[in-house]
Amino acid sequence: MCGVIGYIGERATPEFFYNGLKRLEYRGYDSAGIAMMNSDGVFIQRAEGKLVNLQKKLELLPKSTKIGIGHTRWATHGKPTELNAHPHRSENMILLHNGIIENYKPLKEFLLNKGYKFHSETDTEVAAHLLNYEFKQNLNIQNPLERMKKSIFSLVSQIRGAFAFGILCTDVPDTLFVVKYGSPVVLGIGENENYMASGITALVDHTRQIIIMEDKEIAYLTSKDISIVDFEGKPVKRDPISISWSTSMLDKNGFDHYMLKEIHEQPQAVAQTINGRYDLDTGKINLKAYGINHINLKEINRIQIIACGTSYYAGCLARYFIEKFTGIPVETELASESRYRSPTVNSHTLSIAVSQSGETIDTLQAIKFAKENKAKTLAIINAPGSSIAHVCDDQSLIYAGPEVGVASTKAFSAQLASLILLGLAIAQEQKKLNTHKISEYIDELIKVPSFLEKVLMLSNGIKEISIKYYNLNSLLFIGRGHQWPVALEGALKLKELSYIHAEGYAAGELKHGPIALIDEDMSVVCLAPKDSYYEKTISNIEEIRARGGKILSVGTEGDKELQNISDDFIAIPECSEIILPFLTAVPMHLLAYWVAVRKGTDVDQPRNLAKSVTVE
Ligand code: F6R
Repeated sequence: MCGVIGYIGERATPEFFYNGLKRLEYRGYDSAGIAMMNSDGVFIQRAEGKLVNLQKKLELLPKSTKIGIGHTRWATHGKPTELNAHPHRSENMILLHNGIIENYKPLKEFLLNKGYKFHSETDTEVAAHLLNYEFKQNLNIQNPLERMKKSIFSLVSQIRGAFAFGILCTDVPDTLFVVKYGSPVVLGIGENENYMASGITALVDHTRQIIIMEDKEIAYLTSKDISIVDFEGKPVKRDPISISWSTSMLDKNGFDHYMLKEIHEQPQAVAQTINGRYDLDTGKINLKAYGINHINLKEINRIQIIACGTSYYAGCLARYFIEKFTGIPVETELASESRYRSPTVNSHTLSIAVSQSGETIDTLQAIKFAKENKAKTLAIINAPGSSIAHVCDDQSLIYAGPEVGVASTKAFSAQLASLILLGLAIAQEQKKLNTHKISEYIDELIKVPSFLEKVLMLSNGIKEISIKYYNLNSLLFIGRGHQWPVALEGALKLKELSYIHAEGYAAGELKHGPIALIDEDMSVVCLAPKDSYYEKTISNIEEIRARGGKILSVGTEGDKELQNISDDFIAIPECSEIILPFLTAVPMHLLAYWVAVRKGTDVDQPRNLAKSVTVE
């Protein structure tokens, strides 16, 4: 949550910060601000609401300076007002923050007693004042840079929580200070210029050379150099990595919204996830290419999948396949619950953190818990070099490419493909499936992208259907077996994008309570393709019809029986069970998209949300 960007070099322009923040807007879009510093002083402009409101104020900033910082906010403490927008200033300190300072109340009390005046309701302003206070305590240190370093050490020793700070100090105008603990920060290396940001996306316009900061580190950036120390002051040597994401991957490519573009990128995302990771001739999964370098899959007798939101649903779905391939018990757990349950794991447990961003704090904490308790840990992530990848024994990238729309779409399909591949890899290592069977499954996976292409052609039809649904107050989504997590995903997408109340249920669970909701005003999205649960799902649909409920069904092409009992019918091609959930998820994404477009909500940046949830 919150996007931060910082720059030191020759070309710090308001547009540079604005454009960088645009790339990070998915991380938070409640308010924004930029601070630029030169020999005339510090110039700060902030604005409430979307970034575009800040654009109107860019002309009030200097045309160019050599150093500056910018921030786009997802409010935690204090409403999204201009006063609460970052950067915050305390005399010589200008600071912006991504994270939460948990003990800000006693610190604020302390600073109020010292005579500091607070202008915002944020926890961040406490850090700015505390740094200023510490700077004043260290008067004995003559060199301002050394004094600043000492003051930052004092600051980080007093605050608790999660924080990534970008800091300017008027006494040290040739250094940009960066602090990282719990919230993500990357540093970018340029020629006679250096950068910091909370995500790679903000830097791809400028550099491909990235240093990923780790927790408890402080970086000092000048235009020529980056040096990093840990919170004890010990120097840290870190080699940069080269990233392959290109600027064009971050554009809308002619689509009206990132979300629609990303829905249409699903075939490519799945293809990139599986390509190069198997050998069809030998029926072998290539463990190294998948990302398994340290974990011995032969020793695993229990699997735990930890994730949040859409990634959790991908994990719920994968469970069916992994259990079938391996016979190993699989639990899929909400990360935000798992970490407070102290789940029993041991050295034979494979704990898998599934996260598009690789930064979701609940998933990060839950996987850390698993690791501390000796589980083997694997990160399945999309963002290279992310925090979750860093703590795990092994990491496997899904290669879906950057996902900018706040609602996850292509990452879902790619995560599912990746988890299925992993299930096959475990079955291979434990000799639960022979190479012939593995080849057959891989054959099916390979077909997913072309099937997805066909399903994407349903977009216009779903756009038409959405006219009947966009002004409803509530919808149910049902499915059985593989289609249950897809129903949950459909309901999540609809509610987050269009703010229509939606619930996903296992179809068989309806009669245990939710059926009471059914009357002629209730519409139910029924996922009923021809699979092993088909007959039973049809019975559930009949039960809904008998009570007057309206049916929008997703089923197999040519299924007249289902079509006849449905008010609306979305037909997907006939295919094997392994392919089906990939295909039924697409109409869920498209339905939510078109309903939201008709309602006029902000599709790419729904209210109250942020792409990367780095607070608990
Ligand atoms: C919903 C959505 C969220 C994310 C969740 C986890 O459309 O995007 O539910 O799936 O916040 O995010 P990651 O995968 O980054 O850990």
